[in-house]
Amino acid sequence: MTDVFSIKAFDFPKDFLWGSATAAHQIEGNNIYSNNWYNEQKNLKNGWNGEASGTACNHYNMVEEDVELLGKLGHQAFRMGVEWARIEPHEGEFNKEATDHYIRELALLKEKGIKTFVTLVHFSVPKWFADKGDFQSLENLKYFERYLNYILPKISPYVDFWNVINEFNLGRSEERLTHKFNSVIYHARGYHLIKQFSNKPVSSAHALVQFCGKRQNDAFDLAMQHYMDVINHEFFFHAMRTGELVLPGKDGIFDKEIKDTVDYWSINLYTREMVDARKADLSSKRYPFTETRMLPMNFYLDEFYPECMYHNLSRLKDKPVYITENGCSCDDDDFRIVYLVEYLCALSEAIKDGVDVRGYLYWSFLDNYEWWTYIPRFGLVDVDREHGFKRTPKPSAYFYKEIIENNGYNPEMLKKYLTEMPRIKDLPILL
Ligand code: BGC
Repeated sequence: MTDVFSIKAFDFPKDFLWGSATAAHQIEGNNIYSNNWYNEQKNLKNGWNGEASGTACNHYNMVEEDVELLGKLGHQAFRMGVEWARIEPHEGEFNKEATDHYIRELALLKEKGIKTFVTLVHFSVPKWFADKGDFQSLENLKYFERYLNYILPKISPYVDFWNVINEFNLGRSEERLTHKFNSVIYHARGYHLIKQFSNKPVSSAHALVQFCGKRQNDAFDLAMQHYMDVINHEFFFHAMRTGELVLPGKDGIFDKEIKDTVDYWSINLYTREMVDARKADLSSKRYPFTETRMLPMNFYLDEFYPECMYHNLSRLKDKPVYITENGCSCDDDDFRIVYLVEYLCALSEAIKDGVDVRGYLYWSFLDNYEWWTYIPRFGLVDVDREHGFKRTPKPSAYFYKEIIENNGYNPEMLKKYLTEMPRIKDLPILL
């Protein structure tokens, strides 16, 4: 973390789009027909020390209130999931109530003048689809297509930006390689289907982690740094640019249907991962001197590394870029304020260097479910799950609102919210 008070004013291009991002399973609650719900319940029975999603933020029942709040906080765009497991809870049976629910939510956002980013698959899928082997099998494409043919014509009048599948690009196990290889094909199929119903831009959100060799002058660490980059990032960018799907560990293919199936780069960007060639799993802990303890648990985003925003985007100058996730999980909201200034400053530098970034969606609007726990709190808005799911915007939400209103940052704004740098705490480990 650099001294945030030393950062000078910066701004963003005209018509830059500001907002926040969410995922259905993480905020809606009671996503009972999803594979995630089923796995959470199974894990609990087996003595899991994680938490189940349960009612999450109860967003499913609080859509009006949440859309109202987005408007009050000045958000111009909102990324949300339309949950396949609700719409097709049983194979081939489509639920009208859930379909109408999403149409209503999207219509409410549009009435408020908020642009919609819709994710069709954000990790969770219907349990029945998971039982058939989900994206691990290309045989299942027919189910995905049937679902899309049902939902796309209904929601497309309300969608401004499409996101087919969230973050399928990470991992290096045999299973993960198959998953991501196939997901490129699912993504491309999704792209072409969407184009039959909508002329709005399509992408799939890409988790752009900067892989960083632990020892920057060590041949082995650097080779593995490059390898991790290729199998997690370059394979996707290359496939989208050329139609050639090259994923070391798999036989490559060329399919012209894959080429140019992103209209914009949808980038989820948080931090870096250290790569250590001397470890079987290649992973390394962060340097203790860059670690930032913001939560009472060990969490993978425990570093402020705004440089990753700048370094990574320079490879994406060929299409418009939208940051579809970036955010900080902390109990002390002051960290979030510092984070916003530092990451947005780096983003503005990337724009100056010619990256066509057109929008930024903070992750996340609400304190949500982080897949196995509620401890990491990413929200601009606190959710009191014990007391009627009451929403309370944090100071960072108002600070972010000022950034949106000014389409940029100046140190005068910061003074109203922060008088000194927050301190790294010695927190207990709860999980
Ligand atoms: C995912 C979100 C998740 C966030 C923070 C992203 O990789 O898309 O679902 O909550 O990171 O861990």
